[in-house]
Amino acid sequence: MINENTIQEIKERLDIVEVIGDFVSLKKSGSSYKALSPFTSEKTPSFFVSPSKQIFKCFSTGKGGDAIEFLKEVESMSYVESLKYLAEKYGVEIEDSDDYSPQNTEKESLLIILSRANEFFMNNLKTESGQNFAMTYLQHRGVNADMIKKFNIGYSNEDWDSLLKHLIKNGFDETLIEKAGLIIVKDNKKYDRFRNRLMFPIHNITGKVIAFGARQIKEEKKQPKYINSPETLLYIKSDILYGLYQSKNEIRKEDKCYLVEGYTDVISLYQIGINNVVSSSGTSLTTGQIKLLSRYTKNITILFDGDEAGLNASLRGMDLILENDLNVKIVSLPKNEDPDSLSKKMNESEFKNYLNSNETDLINYKVKLLNENYKDDPIKKSDMIFDIVKSISKIPNSIKRSVFIKETSNSLNINENSLITEMNKLLINKNTSRSQDLSTPQKSKSDKIKINNVINHHERECVRMLVNYGTKDFEVMGLDRRSFIEYFLREIEDVDFTNESYIQIIKTFKEEFNRDNIIDINYFFSEEYDSIKNEVIDLSTSKYEISNKWKDKFNIHVSEESDSLKKTTYNNILRLKFRLVKKMINDNLKNLNNESNNINEEEIIKIHNKLKSTEIEIAKQLGNVTSI
Ligand code: CTP
Ligand code: MN
Repeated sequence: MINENTIQEIKERLDIVEVIGDFVSLKKSGSSYKALSPFTSEKTPSFFVSPSKQIFKCFSTGKGGDAIEFLKEVESMSYVESLKYLAEKYGVEIEDSDDYSPQNTEKESLLIILSRANEFFMNNLKTESGQNFAMTYLQHRGVNADMIKKFNIGYSNEDWDSLLKHLIKNGFDETLIEKAGLIIVKDNKKYDRFRNRLMFPIHNITGKVIAFGARQIKEEKKQPKYINSPETLLYIKSDILYGLYQSKNEIRKEDKCYLVEGYTDVISLYQIGINNVVSSSGTSLTTGQIKLLSRYTKNITILFDGDEAGLNASLRGMDLILENDLNVKIVSLPKNEDPDSLSKKMNESEFKNYLNSNETDLINYKVKLLNENYKDDPIKKSDMIFDIVKSISKIPNSIKRSVFIKETSNSLNINENSLITEMNKLLINKNTSRSQDLSTPQKSKSDKIKINNVINHHERECVRMLVNYGTKDFEVMGLDRRSFIEYFLREIEDVDFTNESYIQIIKTFKEEFNRDNIIDINYFFSEEYDSIKNEVIDLSTSKYEISNKWKDKFNIHVSEESDSLKKTTYNNILRLKFRLVKKMINDNLKNLNNESNNINEEEIIKIHNKLKSTEIEIAKQLGNVTSI
């Protein structure tokens, strides 16, 4: 349908960094760009874009390709849809692209109809009734001309079927108009869904109108304040955030997004210059919306209206954000104010100041709420504490969890260990139900292989240090010398290695060391060690050759290891211990499901707590050297 020359032109004009940059927050890294993969939820970036090759590659999912492939993957566009999107972005003309024809896919037809409807509503604003009703109302609300334009605000007039007639006159099919959610068909009568309302078009991320929110202009008791488009092929409510199309660049730039409740809140904040704002349209956030938002930022600040009624209900929804490892902050506005009303009383910098100085992270917000409201009501108080612990348990990062537990324990003056115990019960339940979900034999087997691979890798890293640096001084303080091997053997005393060759190598080093004999690789070149000789050689030659795959996967930096021998060894051993503890935690939890086992639940939780605190301890020591 699109001819080959046009396709060629689109491909020549596009820049993949720009195209992908509209969806993902890219950071320059050497000659390429990297980002968190939009296809999975990950913590370390594995998504790369190469401007010179004009391709992207996602190492966690294996997906890769050109800009068109990216659009197909990330927006589920068809090949033709991607081309049309790119043509529009880069001003390449495609013949007849905007005309309705039976060959167009249904989705495309709906997009065209909705875009025509939006034009119709915007034009209505200029008519006499539009000026008298809608424009007057907008002025009364203080919405300026720039915002009307930016958000494509329109007006649906008082007639019963003016939109329907208009669209039919333009050759659009009635069934499709209905499928676009624009008309209501009842008792063989068809009429416009939206009448005498202010029209807020809802855009998808590429700027296409996919639905409408329609606000009544005159207070009519029997009518709802808002009427919204029904869900359609294009409009899946749970995957859309109002204002994201207009705000996404600023969200990325500020690395932060304000979340408000209503359409008018978005527009009002935008108008005073706060341009990183979206609305969940009055409902609590869904996973889909959070995933969408996290492509642009991990930092979300939620603005709560001054009335406290909905507060507790909305707080519950927040756990979903924690679960997705985003940083959630809360600002609660003064009594009887919403972002819209407050924006009329403050200018940009005053509003920003207000937000900055009132921002509290979710957990501390809950703690504050508890202290203010339920201090003297023991039942409510314990409910609330449980609620807080539950929220904390949703945070995937164990260090963040332990920080929050400590803070909560301090501010509520509750024993830290009992909070930890409660939290671990929740974590255990979560883990066991999850492992039951994944209990297909194939899956659990491959998971196991993965864990063992990781452990084997860390074991190898440790033994590699031994083989290469076993004869070196590790620390020299005045006359006091400590050899590497002395340090190493002491550190790994409590570590059970699993790989047979590594066990042999360490044993040999150890036996010789106990005879005051510090050996190096040459020691292994005798027949006695034939079985591990190759392993030793391998370990000593691959010093600087850890493949990129491993480097990316485990964040290992080896280039200057001999310069910072102490640090590298220390970290390598810690990493191994960290993995082993993780494995022990998993193994321990398996006992819960194992009924033939006599160990009781209390015992398992006790062990779990011990292992968990060891894990946290190691993680702390590793600092930001590793990702957890
Ligand atoms: N909403 C809705 N249907 C309703 C009421 C509300 O869909 N009957 C959604 C709308 O998306 C609305 C949001 O909930 O924007 C917040 O509701 P509310 O605060 O009542 O509306 P505002 O957007 O603040 O509108 P206004 O300031 O004009 O009253
Ligand atoms: Mn409002």
